[in-house]
Amino acid sequence: MELKLAKRAQKLKASEIRELLKLTQKKGLISFAGGLPAPELFPIDEMKKVTEEIFTKYGKEVLQYSLTEGNEDLRTIIGETRMKNVKVPKENILITSGSQQGLDFTGKLFIDKGDKIICEKPTYLGALTAFNVYEPEYVEVEMDDYGMIIEDLEEKLKSNPEVKFIYTIPDFQNPTGRTLPVDRRKKMVEIAKKYEVLIIEDNPYGELRYEGERYPSIKSFDDDGYVIYLGTFSKIFCPGLRIGWICASDIIIEKYIMVKQSADLHCNTLAQQELVTFMKMFDIEEHIDQIKEVYRKRRNVMLEALEKYMPKDVKYVKTEGGLFIWLELKETIDTKVIFEEAVKRDVAFVPGHSFYAKDVRKNYMRLNYSSMSEDLIKEGIKRLSEVIMEYY
Ligand SMILES: Cc1ncc(COP(=O)(O)O)c(C=O)c1O
Repeated sequence: MELKLAKRAQKLKASEIRELLKLTQKKGLISFAGGLPAPELFPIDEMKKVTEEIFTKYGKEVLQYSLTEGNEDLRTIIGETRMKNVKVPKENILITSGSQQGLDFTGKLFIDKGDKIICEKPTYLGALTAFNVYEPEYVEVEMDDYGMIIEDLEEKLKSNPEVKFIYTIPDFQNPTGRTLPVDRRKKMVEIAKKYEVLIIEDNPYGELRYEGERYPSIKSFDDDGYVIYLGTFSKIFCPGLRIGWICASDIIIEKYIMVKQSADLHCNTLAQQELVTFMKMFDIEEHIDQIKEVYRKRRNVMLEALEKYMPKDVKYVKTEGGLFIWLELKETIDTKVIFEEAVKRDVAFVPGHSFYAKDVRKNYMRLNYSSMSEDLIKEGIKRLSEVIMEYY
């Protein structure tokens, strides 16, 4: 039978990188390829108590349909505690199935075929796959070690005044680990207002800062509803619950709620209640501190191993948080070639290619340090360095 797919579905193709990453399932392989939180940090015993409490207290309620907007207590807690210096009423929060659903809804609400959207160069692969369904045209903004270069952003907006929105990951960006300084955050909001474009602030990593003070979000500089903030519990709690949120102005959140209703009515009632009850029975800040302690050590071990084993002209930023380190190799090197060789020696990473919306750069790789033990990180970086050495 000929599949009579919609035109946009005909263009969907399996990501090349997903095919490559299948190779990383090999037994005994040290993988820096994923972005998975460390499963040993999931609060299993606490969740058993939480589930017991929920079924005793709420019974049938948690297995029933519920509000599209999401659990009211959960939205109140998020509005009051999870966006640092942004405090919003629950009415401005919609619970989503991870921030990935926030990205999809953003595409659904704002992108018509051929619409221009701005993103970082490079940017989060999952955002590209979410937006691609709606067939945008990407305008990439150059980055330095501190994130988007504001002058380039303004330049791109000047020459593309019809841009729909700016998509940015300001804290410990995926894939580069870069963090946007406070003055650039302020400037970005000023520019958004000047050119009347929205900012999508995707912030899964802001709470995972291992040194210094957390920066104020871009949203905190916005009094006029230009910034839409996407948050998630995936990296500070458990990704399997699939709980994230969108925070936006009254008129915008109303549109997102309508899209949510048409997509899946609401998020899993039980998962939302589990999160609320966990936060009532236990201290989530303490839990996040434990996660940070473990990741800080793993990051330090990876940085030390990079320093010790890598050729001196391999460049990287000593990131202060998040899950990733981004390596820049000699321009003549293609990291996909290195990937194949590395997998043969039982170590893997993500070649940088697929994080570029348009103009692919081939000499970068993303390393994740959250899901491997300190010993495996040391051994893995040693092996990877040996492979890279052969190309220097
Ligand atoms: C930048 C960024 N945005 C969004 C997501 C999606 O996260 P989730 O849907 O689990 O909340 C991720 C996941 O890795 C990410 O790195």
